[in-house]
Amino acid sequence: KQTGYTALDYGFVNTSATRSAITYIDGDAGILRYRGYPIEQVAANSTFLEVAWLLIYGELPTPDELQGFDERIRRHTLLHEDMRRFFDALPHDAHPMSVLSSAVSALSTYYQNSLSVRDPEQVELSMIRLLAKLPVIAAYAHKKSLGQAFLYPDNSLSFVDNFLRLNFGTLAEPYEVNPVLSKALDRLLILHEDHEQNASTSTVRMVGSTEANVFASISAGINALYGPLHGGANEAVLGMLARIRDSGDSVAQYVERVKNKEDGIRLMGFGHRVYKNYDPRAKLVKESANEVLADLGVKDPLLDIAMELEQIALDDDYFKERKLYPNVDFYTGVIYKAMGFPPRMFTVLFAIGRLPGWLAHWRELNQDPATKIGRPQQLYTGAAERDWPQR
Ligand code: CMC
Repeated sequence: KQTGYTALDYGFVNTSATRSAITYIDGDAGILRYRGYPIEQVAANSTFLEVAWLLIYGELPTPDELQGFDERIRRHTLLHEDMRRFFDALPHDAHPMSVLSSAVSALSTYYQNSLSVRDPEQVELSMIRLLAKLPVIAAYAHKKSLGQAFLYPDNSLSFVDNFLRLNFGTLAEPYEVNPVLSKALDRLLILHEDHEQNASTSTVRMVGSTEANVFASISAGINALYGPLHGGANEAVLGMLARIRDSGDSVAQYVERVKNKEDGIRLMGFGHRVYKNYDPRAKLVKESANEVLADLGVKDPLLDIAMELEQIALDDDYFKERKLYPNVDFYTGVIYKAMGFPPRMFTVLFAIGRLPGWLAHWRELNQDPATKIGRPQQLYTGAAERDWPQR
């Protein structure tokens, strides 16, 4: 028995690591609110940057505040020219999540004089730089994988339109943004903006608690998001759907394999630590999936497989008993694919969406006088004291 140590809680299932006023979740009721606003209302009425402001500063922006925020972000989209060459050193088949986290870490080396965590103006500037440059870095990771030239940002375009052009435009032809695509992507990014103490946000908070700068903290968050049990699930879902299609097995057979825990496989895009009911984001994403595919005139058999899989799982006792429902990642991949993104970019899109949430938590942490360096306890299970052998 060790004195002074609290209960062992693998995965922090029962332990609050902080107080927070940003996002409210009631997992049993399937409720998600950003700063008190229900996610359904947020998704129907806002834009990505408006929600970013709401999450970071706590209240909705006035029209002037929103315009100023938007303009400031547009002014900071350019990467340092040397930073553009950073991508040359990486292999063309590098996973864009590795590129993203490395580039965000590297970005801080260009701003060494403005990394103070105690100077609110410098923190503000770092947050603006990250919001402006993360989509550009993401698009360059994509372009690099295609062997295409990088485009410079076009600051006359909105946040999402600029991002789409950087990904899908070429130097050869002018690029026209499809408004259906733009609206759908904006909505998906909104749905990813925050989700309280998930693994990547907790990572950002943990790193931030050491007074590491914003870039270092966000880079760590991106790495935490990469894993298939977290943000990487959206890429994994598409892989799973494609495997089912190619295997010749029926969807029901695949579900049986999952239930038998064959090779440890799980139904990717299903289950959630907090939601023991339908993930409210998944409901909204599913609506978008049908709309976007219809609008783009895309017929994807993977969507049919996804819908059949969902139905079989929802009717099955294994999933009912364990309260496993589709989560936000289940249908996003099908939409991103229809938009033209390769599967390896899916988690990068999640990261762009989640950035405002990470920043809001980093800022909240640094403004909370109760903050202490994160330092969990452990239950020691090793050898008792013993003497070094005398040889
Ligand atoms: N497919 C099959 N069985 C599952 C699944 C699944 N997706 N998720 C959980 N289970 C089973 C699990 O095997 C366990 O069964 P048993 O009691 O027989 O051992 C039971 O349900 C409880 O699972 P758990 O691992 O203790 O649950 P958790 O809260 O620790 O894990 C999770 C949550 C999201 C990691 C897990 O549900 C999972 O691995 N899902 C698939 C990956 C995924 O879609 N991740 C995205 C999460 S949402 C977006 C995000 O935050 O990134």
